[in-house]
Amino acid sequence: MAEPPFNAFRYAHAHRTEVAWMSQNTNHLVPPEVVRGALEEAIRARLYEGYPLASGDPELLELARADLGLAEMTPFLTGGGTESLYMIARALLKPGDEVIASDPSYLIIHRFVELSGARTKNLDIYAPPYRLTADRVREAISPSTRMILLIDPLNPLGSGYPREEVRAIAEIAHDHRLVLLNDVTYRDFSEGHALAASFAPEETVTVWSVSKNCGLAGLRLGGILARPDVLDAIARFNTNDLGVNVLAQVAARAALRTKASWIGNVVRQTRENDRRVRATALSVPGATVPVPPSRANMTIVDIADTGVRPELLQEELLRRHGVFIRAGNYLSPKHGAKFVRISFSNPPADVDRFERAFPEAMRTLAARAPTAR
Ligand SMILES: Cc1ncc(COP(=O)(O)O)c(C=O)c1O
Repeated sequence: MAEPPFNAFRYAHAHRTEVAWMSQNTNHLVPPEVVRGALEEAIRARLYEGYPLASGDPELLELARADLGLAEMTPFLTGGGTESLYMIARALLKPGDEVIASDPSYLIIHRFVELSGARTKNLDIYAPPYRLTADRVREAISPSTRMILLIDPLNPLGSGYPREEVRAIAEIAHDHRLVLLNDVTYRDFSEGHALAASFAPEETVTVWSVSKNCGLAGLRLGGILARPDVLDAIARFNTNDLGVNVLAQVAARAALRTKASWIGNVVRQTRENDRRVRATALSVPGATVPVPPSRANMTIVDIADTGVRPELLQEELLRRHGVFIRAGNYLSPKHGAKFVRISFSNPPADVDRFERAFPEAMRTLAARAPTAR
């Protein structure tokens, strides 16, 4: 019988304690004390036996709103930002609608758009400035356009939007009465980040998450901030009618209460790791880093000119070196075969391992690659 294809996630989870997890933009730098006490107390009190307040813990809702500084908007909790994105696509799009988006992008959102019978118009952003611009968005508008997808900072490129560009895109949304879906999952990593809702409050629906900034990806909590009438329309598609995970709410509340005291260190270490990852990547002939420095906690490394295939590099780094990074194919139909994505909100020891492993894995694979130059 033929051997089944290598499943990187299955392998990485089976070896979880030995793997430097640099593949999913998760954050391993938040001091564990931030949530440990609150979670232990909630477990001792057996909070998990009962349902949570269905509308969400009032303090957490308030913290989420205050964290983003959007006093006029109504907060809503979901199972990760992912569920918010699903609900928004289902509620606000209909068959035939068009969404202005990009390639590369966080393609799960595009899939949700398609489930609603709508389609994305993917503007190719694999060239400077590696993000959308107001001019290109304006040109892309057609009579079918219903939404603009503004992921800022952008997964996977690590690019982010200057304040004036956010303002210009928000004005387009306002002038054309389009929904502006502003996914700000990585916002805390981006210096000088601007929220689209501050420029187009009526049109903007903001999606936030505690997965990446607070290091709580496994607990699956995020949410929406939108004007009350828009939120009512979206909430019709809520599947968590009995509320979202009670332990996730406890942890998110503890993290957001104290975030101001530890996020600076998380971001500083992330930036330092970015610098080291980039230097390591650039030490390999033919490898380039298109977006330096990142405004998020990940970067891409373009290896097209090395002749090494991203999937093989992912497998080699994981199996031989215990370093889990991600091949680009799930992030870009057009350019995914050229790059890998590496995330780095990790302890320095993980980056040490990457520094040793990446050049060696590239040497090994380049020697084998038939197209190597
Ligand atoms: C741009 C973007 N949005 C949303 C999410 C979903 O995050 P979560 O469901 O963990 O909140 C991710 C996860 O990687 C992401 O990259």
